[in-house]
Amino acid sequence: MASELLYGGDYNPEQYSPAVWAEDVRLMKAARVNTVTVGVFAWSSLEPNEGVFTFDWLDDVLDLLHVNGIGVILATPTASPPPWFSLAHPEALPVTADGVRLLHGSRDTYNPAAEAYRHAARRIATEMGRRYGTHPALRMWHVHNEYGTVSFGPVVDAEFRLWLERKYGALPRLNDVWNTAFWSQRYGRWAEVFAPQATQYLGNPAQLLDFRRFAAELLLTAFAEQADILRSLSSGIPVTTNFMLPTWLHYDQWAFAEAEDLVSIDDYPSEPGVDGHAQAAFSGDLARSLAGNRPWLLMEQATNLIYRSDAMLVRSTQDMIRSSLQYIARGSLGALFFQWRAPRTGAEVFHSSMVPHSGEDTDQFRGTVQLGELLAGLSELAPEGPPGPVAENRVAILWYPEAWWAADTRGLPRADLDYSGLVHQVHRALWLAGVGVDFIHPDQDLTGYDVVLLPLAIPLSDTQAGAVEDYVGSGGRLVAWYFSGTTDENFSVVPAGYGGQLARVLGIRVQMVHPVDGVLTLTDGSTAGRWSEHLDLRGAETVAGYSGGTLDGKPALTRHSFGRGTAHYVSTHLDDDALRGHLVAVLADAGISGRAGDGLEVIDRRVGDTRFSIALNHTDAPGTVAVYGTDLVTGHSHAGPAVIPAGGYLIVRA
Ligand code: GLA
Repeated sequence: MASELLYGGDYNPEQYSPAVWAEDVRLMKAARVNTVTVGVFAWSSLEPNEGVFTFDWLDDVLDLLHVNGIGVILATPTASPPPWFSLAHPEALPVTADGVRLLHGSRDTYNPAAEAYRHAARRIATEMGRRYGTHPALRMWHVHNEYGTVSFGPVVDAEFRLWLERKYGALPRLNDVWNTAFWSQRYGRWAEVFAPQATQYLGNPAQLLDFRRFAAELLLTAFAEQADILRSLSSGIPVTTNFMLPTWLHYDQWAFAEAEDLVSIDDYPSEPGVDGHAQAAFSGDLARSLAGNRPWLLMEQATNLIYRSDAMLVRSTQDMIRSSLQYIARGSLGALFFQWRAPRTGAEVFHSSMVPHSGEDTDQFRGTVQLGELLAGLSELAPEGPPGPVAENRVAILWYPEAWWAADTRGLPRADLDYSGLVHQVHRALWLAGVGVDFIHPDQDLTGYDVVLLPLAIPLSDTQAGAVEDYVGSGGRLVAWYFSGTTDENFSVVPAGYGGQLARVLGIRVQMVHPVDGVLTLTDGSTAGRWSEHLDLRGAETVAGYSGGTLDGKPALTRHSFGRGTAHYVSTHLDDDALRGHLVAVLADAGISGRAGDGLEVIDRRVGDTRFSIALNHTDAPGTVAVYGTDLVTGHSHAGPAVIPAGGYLIVRA
């Protein structure tokens, strides 16, 4: 699609006068900005009253950008319905789990199940599609912004019942799957079933899991209907919506990715230094995987100050540049930001921007220019024509929303079972070891990978568990973590021991789980904590046992030869170093070793038939990496070890 890397950010001209627009264009050109996202949250400026449209200002902005060579990603503004809408359609306001109806005053104040909202969203999408579907500045449609509103209340109850009826057909089946005999929840009529609003005590986990599936599908339906409209009113313009990674669990990103023409993400690492870059690597790997190993787009990141609940995180220009390269190396078509110009006031007045409050004569704006100039020289990394595969990784981590939702259920043996935290820990260990990783859904084909990692995958269907068995049986290497495979997809515990769905392939039986406080020691010297399990070996051998404590002498880490493959089990929460050591040993068995590591990363990127290596030094000391080819920035040839200064980078065409 592109022949240049996209560079720019969210642009909100509706907040400024035309004199500022002219100034913006001058600064955009100075910074080599070639793409801006317009329209996000602009609904009240585009439709100030029901059915009354004021597109003139947007016409002028798009024309102005176009004549200046700046492309537009045009967003439908449906993440923020205007106040008139909320007043006219109170049933379309979101209701919290506590039954509180939220009023206008922030954003995302909509109920995705309300027909009035969906109708209004389709109407504004249609108007925009008709008016701008053939505008020469249009590069992409950006539907909504970060789908994520989950609502409760009567409108949702009605939709949830219909969804359940489609899924279960009749109530006896639902009663059986949800085991409603427990606590006298047996339903006799559909009208008795509600979305799981606040309850007196613990809710029914099977009901909660179904509600999350329903809520995710609802958001996907809302997206898909806008996407269909926009596709029908423009030709060949890709449609996307931006995921908030990696912290949002309201939706099924795999399902969304299938419905999009291009995956796009927003990413705001929350840690300083190397840890923040580990987070960016995680999001980039996830985005590429969601995109099916094809290019995707970083729709938003922050230039310098990153929002956090306590103190904002300060990011240097060098960090911003290396993060941008991390995403591009993992397949992003460019580096876009939230936001172009810092607003005069408003909810996120102090969020960082490409043009800061202090203006042009600042290190921040000079950083904006520096990144723009760098990316303008890297157009070889922007694929032209049909996009091909980006990476060639041999290791995959299973990642799917049901696992996250299940671990997020109340009433588990430990309240802080942290699915996302464990997946991040596993990814980080591999990143620090210099090993490239993909993410994969358990319904996808596992057989392309030498090693598959299965962290805290509590619910697994029979089909998914069977696919894991087949994978190992035919020669794959599996590492599964504690409590995985304990329930089926409906959160029903599989009989005869926890982890029952994986018992055969792992060659173990979990008699009982033992959550622990404090440090656990294993016989190989590893330290662990939080969780342990009483295992019986049923064919597996012990790799390391528990040392001391209630489970003294019992297996903690196991290995099982199954068919032509091997299945490893980690029954406790290993500390970072122990986890890395364990994984490196498993990978070594598979003949996989890392490149660089410990904050010095080398990412291999394919663009068509051409291969690039992007080496990034996130540490405070110079580092040496082996690279071969031509440096895209200096034109020098590299044929082996190259020194990268602290905080520096190297981009090489093989
Ligand atoms: C998200 C949103 C933006 C903005 C940023 C900053 O990514 O899409 O509108 O709120 O976060 O927090």
